[in-house]
Amino acid sequence: MEHVSVLLNEAVDGLNIRDGKTYVDATLGYGGHSSEIQKRLKRGFLFAFDQDETAIEHCQKLFKDDDNVTIIHSNFVNMKEELAKLGVEKVDGIIFDLGLSSPQIDDATRGFSFMKDAPLDMRMDKSKEMSAMTVVNEYDYARLVDIFFRYGEERYSREIAKGILRERPIATTLGLVEVIKKNVPKKYYLTHHPERQIFQAIRIEVNKELNVLESVLPEAIEMLNPGGRISVITFHSLEDRITKQIFKKYSEVDSLVKGLPTIPNEFKPKIKLINKKPFIPSEDEMEKNSRSKSAKLRIIERV
Ligand SMILES: C[S@@+](CC[C@H](N)C(=O)[O-])C[C@H]1O[C@@H](n2cnc3c(N)ncnc32)[C@H](O)[C@@H]1O
Repeated sequence: MEHVSVLLNEAVDGLNIRDGKTYVDATLGYGGHSSEIQKRLKRGFLFAFDQDETAIEHCQKLFKDDDNVTIIHSNFVNMKEELAKLGVEKVDGIIFDLGLSSPQIDDATRGFSFMKDAPLDMRMDKSKEMSAMTVVNEYDYARLVDIFFRYGEERYSREIAKGILRERPIATTLGLVEVIKKNVPKKYYLTHHPERQIFQAIRIEVNKELNVLESVLPEAIEMLNPGGRISVITFHSLEDRITKQIFKKYSEVDSLVKGLPTIPNEFKPKIKLINKKPFIPSEDEMEKNSRSKSAKLRIIERV
């Protein structure tokens, strides 16, 4: 399936693109947001990251004639170092469109989908050693329960983890779905789809998705020139909470000096929130693209 970009115009408008400036797409994917940014830049530069080599290959073809677009095969957590290697220290806008692209989910061999049988993989970056196979077959009970509760917010985490330990080795996605199904009440399985939550938890663990987001956002804020913007599109509450909390912290006066009659410059807020409440897709977009239903967009500007 083709990838349909979520909140395409809203997120790119949010960057307030000025020609001649420098922009970063942290999650290139199939190039939807990048194409929209590139269209608005005659003289500026775009640096685009993805850790998935299939996405990189696709976009190398897509942007082959655009010499102001530089494609970087790397996790966005390395953004600062990768850009520094190219002599770029400051930028004017960064977009994050988190999670997976439709082709990643639809490609049965990647093991992201609980509806298609495949080896347990779920790595966005196939050069990494740890896959879902390691998590499912090697993590101990306490560690499994912890990630199922924290990253899946799944009520039956303990029962599912016990079931996994009993049934190991588990080699495939549908094998795992069977184990989940057997270890929760039948009605709950049909109404709550715990396999969705457990797959989300394992995917987050395999790709360290929350850790990289927590680490990159403060660095991204530091890299912005005054007036520079960041747009972040999240797809579940855990990512949105992290984004919201980091943006809140950087948009407030440092608590060390709150209440002082004059606030020294280094303690003043570094950013302002462009939207207090996250933007969500229109009903029309949600109807056309079901993947957009859980999307939330937060935008900030560097002061
Ligand atoms: C939702 S898709 C992006 C779609 C893109 N905005 C478009 O319009 O086509 C997310 C992409 O980000 C990549 N990705 C997710 N987390 C990443 C990370 N930490 N570092 C680099 N790429 C990442 C995924 O491999 C995937 O290709």
